[in-house]
Amino acid sequence: MGEDAWTEVDDYVASLLVAHDEALEAALAASREAGLPEIQVSPPQGKLLHLLARMVGARSILEFGTLGGYSTIWLARAMPRDGRLITLEADASYAEVARRSISLAGLEAVVSLRQGPALETLPELEAEGAGPFDLVFIDADKVHTPDYFAWAAEHASPGAVLVADNVVRGGTLAETDSGDETIEAQRRLHEMIASDPRVTGTTIQTVGGKGHDGFTLALVS
Ligand code: SAH
Ligand code: DHB
Ligand code: MG
Repeated sequence: MGEDAWTEVDDYVASLLVAHDEALEAALAASREAGLPEIQVSPPQGKLLHLLARMVGARSILEFGTLGGYSTIWLARAMPRDGRLITLEADASYAEVARRSISLAGLEAVVSLRQGPALETLPELEAEGAGPFDLVFIDADKVHTPDYFAWAAEHASPGAVLVADNVVRGGTLAETDSGDETIEAQRRLHEMIASDPRVTGTTIQTVGGKGHDGFTLALVS
């Protein structure tokens, strides 16, 4: 069993349980055509984000790392029309592609895309009094995942869910001295969650078309 089987299982699950409509397909096609890296969440993972947002009854969502807007569309669709999603993207050309796809999905009124490095946008959000957020999806530059998590925990509503993608990275999460700052950041994230009495969490490993990875889920009290 290897990557082929993992992809086949993802495809099987998606074919029965993950309805992809025109807007999601168009978002993937637009990203591909614009040459964006194909690193968006898989369709079953997109559906998982959507389900989590519905399970917590999210009315306010923050996303780090928009890329072409694929995960954004899954999340935004989980909210009522008066829900609000803020998504942060550093790359101006990716942001342009995402804006178009979000608009084609009819989600312009729900989604606010803020272009720029997240660490620069966060103080602006703070000044605007943005939040509290019911769900936060952290999926931008992986070295800053712990910083984004700390900010999210400070700006989360009671019962909020915080999700961080790409925390396992081929199993390197378990290495004590990888010398890789990306992995060290994921280990710091785990230590933060372990020592922060406001949150409780776990990490689930995943396999799929992008290999062996995983995500961390944390609940804010
Ligand atoms: N969430 C998307 C995938 C995001 S890929 C999906 O599943 O559909 C990671 C994204 O983070 C890339 O688009 C990258 O440009 C963006 N990124 C990298 N560094 C960033 C930063 N400092 N601030 C905001 N976004 C950043
Ligand atoms: C990669 C995968 C991701 O899900 C992501 O958010 C960033 C990078 C990757 O496989 O390189
Ligand atoms: Mg990711």
